[in-house]
Amino acid sequence: MSLRIRPAEPRDIHSMAVLRSHHWENASFWEPRVEHYLFGSHSPQQARPERAAFVAEADVKIVGFVAGHLTNRYQCDGELQWINVAPDHRGRGIAGSLLVAMAGWFKQQNARRICVDVVPENTAARGLYGSHGAIPLNPHWMVWEDITKVTVNSTRPGGAASESEN
Ligand SMILES: CC(C)(COP(=O)(O)OP(=O)(O)OC[C@H]1O[C@@H](n2cnc3c(N)ncnc32)[C@H](O)[C@@H]1OP(=O)(O)O)[C@@H](O)C(=O)NCCC(=O)NCCS
Repeated sequence: MSLRIRPAEPRDIHSMAVLRSHHWENASFWEPRVEHYLFGSHSPQQARPERAAFVAEADVKIVGFVAGHLTNRYQCDGELQWINVAPDHRGRGIAGSLLVAMAGWFKQQNARRICVDVVPENTAARGLYGSHGAIPLNPHWMVWEDITKVTVNSTRPGGAASESEN
């Protein structure tokens, strides 16, 4: 499988909505929400306008994506909004590679302290964030005190991070 991490484009919105629907609701619920988020016509609480998203492309299929924005929430510089990997592509380091791409974008924005909303039951996501340096902020949030270390410390051999086009 050849994996490429690249910035999301408008043509990816349907695939991104399908990926969200594996986690909750259906694609038609998510499609307008993803579109409005990406184009800035809808923003999460205390979000600033700057935002970015990256997709993971395996051959010609979108198998994962990540999105985030700058924020004033919880005295953070940025917030990780969504990260999703297709169920049949999990456990291969794809989310880790997406996280590295997102961290690279935050770094470009001079955003270091990054928050993420993650329910206590989501052990996969908590494991992912924890293994990349995030710590609990409160029962529903985790934080990277300096997400730029994710780029520096990412050592997964053969990962797609080096192919990132961020
Ligand atoms: C969370 C999610 C994005 C992880 O994607 P993934 O591509 O399988 O993750 P990776 O393979 O990059 O895993 C990286 C690390 O995360 C942790 N991790 C991943 N899945 C895990 C699981 N099921 N249980 C515990 N830890 C897990 C591990 O530390 C793993 O490192 P390792 O493989 O060296 O042990 C994926 O499970 C998913 O899409 N879940 C549904 C959506 C979701 O919950 N999003 C987050 C909302 S806050």
